[in-house]
Amino acid sequence: MRAMLRASAPILVIALAACGTDPAPEPTEQIVVREPGAAAVPAVETEDSLIAIGKAAFNTCIACHGIEKGGANKVGPNLYGIIGQAAGAAQGFGYSEALTSSGITWTKEELDRYIANPAAKVPGTTMMAGAITDAGRREAIIAYIDEVSAN
Ligand code: HEC
Repeated sequence: MRAMLRASAPILVIALAACGTDPAPEPTEQIVVREPGAAAVPAVETEDSLIAIGKAAFNTCIACHGIEKGGANKVGPNLYGIIGQAAGAAQGFGYSEALTSSGITWTKEELDRYIANPAAKVPGTTMMAGAITDAGRREAIIAYIDEVSAN
């Protein structure tokens, strides 16, 4: 009896594997593939959730950066309104020479490159931590910064 069970096991495996080739299996989940940079749908809901993700992800930055209007500089400068602003422009913050002389104006693209790898973008910058390697997280953080600054 035992020997028979053991012998039938491989057959069972083959039978289960065959199920996978059924012509129309019920879909159990949906995978949405998105090209980088392509707009996702539906627009409004996605924009909201991107900002929500960015707000959560900004926790990586908040130890060093405030983002509220008129907020204080911390280890890093306040980031309110940073998009469109020249690098090194926060009042009363002691920037590195590297950043103030970088000539950068913070577009979303420039922010993306800096946050991805501050020292590669601005050699000599004193932002020593907080780099975000994941492009999607950077996009969300930048969307959040943009949203907060618009208020
Ligand atoms: C460990 C502290 C620290 C963390 C964490 C950190 N930063 Fe910074 N950041 C700094 C410092 C210090 C500077 C000033 C750099 C300089 O003068 O070279 C800076 C500068 C910047 C600047 C340039 C500001 C300006 O006025 O030109 C931006 C933009 C920035 N950080 C974004 C971020 C974002 C977004 C995050 C989170 C993903 C983050 N930082 C995380 C310390 C930090």
